[in-house]
Amino acid sequence: MSKTIMLNSVLAMLLLAHVSCVGFDFGHEEVIVDQLLHDDIIKVESLSCELERQGKIVKTKRDLFFVSFKHGLKAVFKPLNKNSICAEVAAYKASQAMRFAFVPPTVIRKIHDKIGSLQLFVYTNLDPMVSGSFEYALEHADPDELANLKIFYYVFGQWSNGPRNILINSKNGRVQFIAIDNEAIWHKKYWHYGDNAFIQRRWKDIHVPKTDVETFPYDNYCTIKKPTPAVIKEKLGPVVPSNYVHWFCELDPFNYAYYKGSLWVQLKGNAPCFAYTTHFPQETIAKLKQIDKSMLDHIFFHAKGADFLTQEFLDSILDRRNQVLACYESKKVN
Ligand SMILES: Nc1ncnc2c1ncn2[C@@H]1O[C@H](COP(=O)(O)OP(=O)(O)OP(=O)(O)O)[C@@H](O)[C@H]1O
Ligand SMILES: [Mg+2]
Repeated sequence: MSKTIMLNSVLAMLLLAHVSCVGFDFGHEEVIVDQLLHDDIIKVESLSCELERQGKIVKTKRDLFFVSFKHGLKAVFKPLNKNSICAEVAAYKASQAMRFAFVPPTVIRKIHDKIGSLQLFVYTNLDPMVSGSFEYALEHADPDELANLKIFYYVFGQWSNGPRNILINSKNGRVQFIAIDNEAIWHKKYWHYGDNAFIQRRWKDIHVPKTDVETFPYDNYCTIKKPTPAVIKEKLGPVVPSNYVHWFCELDPFNYAYYKGSLWVQLKGNAPCFAYTTHFPQETIAKLKQIDKSMLDHIFFHAKGADFLTQEFLDSILDRRNQVLACYESKKVN
C-alpha cells in the first residue's frame, strides 16, 4: 500500500468517527471526496431499509441505495438522470464555494452499471419528519447559520427545501442543518426574493394556452385551493397529463401561470417562503459579491453537456444574488 493511500485510510477512519459524532463539518472534504470516488464498495443495500433500521421516518418512494465502503464511509447512491446528478454535485460545490457546510460531499459514480450521485451519508440525531423537531431546530438555530441556509437555497435556486430535504443534528445546544436532495436546482424557474418560486412544468405533446406577455406574469396568476382530481382535471386537464394529477393534488394551495409555452407552478402559493431572510451575515454578503463567471464555471464544471446548463441558467443565479444584495442594501441601517 502506498504512503498516500495509507494516510488517506487513516484520515478516512478519523473522519468517519468525526462524521458519526457531529455530522459533517466544512474543511475535511478532499479525503472524503477521494474515498467516495475511488474506495472499494463492500455493500449496496436499500436506503429505505437502512433508514428504518435507524428509526427514521421514510417518505421516499424511489429506489435509493445505502453504500458501505471498505474504509468505513457510508453514502447514499441515487441513480438519476444527467440533469439531476449534475445538480446534486453542483449544489455541493456551491455550498463549498460559499464556505458553508450545508451539503455533504457529493460525487458522480457508476455502481452496478448505473450512473448516479453519491453523497456522504450523515448520521443525525433529530428526525425532521417527527412532528415538532423541524420547528425546534429553527428556534434553536444560530441566526447566521439559518440565514445562510436560506440565502444558499435562494441564490442557487433550490426551491424544493424544507423538512423533507433537510437533516438536523443537535448537540450541546448547537443545531446543524444538512441540505440533502438538491437535484431541483436545475429546474427552470422565475423567483422573486421573498416569494415562492414559479417552477416550469412541461410535458411533451401538451400545449398550453398562448399568452402574448413579454415578461413573466408575476402578478397575473390563478390560484387553486384544496385541489382534487376533479378540480385539476377541470382547470388544468388540457395541460397536465392524467398521471400527474396526483402531484398537483398534494399542493395546497398553489398558483399557476402560463408563459412562453409552459405552465409555471408556484408551490404553497402566497404562503411565506422558507428561502427568505432579512438577516445578512457580513461574511456571506462579501462571499455573494464574489460570485462571478469563474466561480460558476467551477461549480458547474462537471455539468458540461447537461441540457439545463445555459447562459440563461447561470444569469438567473447572478440575478437572484443581485436580488439578495439589493434587499441587503435596502435594509442597511446607516
Ligand atoms: N446524505 C444523506 N445522509 C443521510 N441521510 C440521507 C442522505 N441523503 C438522503 N438521506 C435520507 O434519505 C431520505 C430520502 O432522500 P432524498 O430526499 O434524497 O430522496 P427523495 O426520493 O427525494 O425523498 P423524499 O421524497 O422523501 O424527499 C431522506 O429523507 C433522508 O432521510
Ligand atoms: Mg427529497
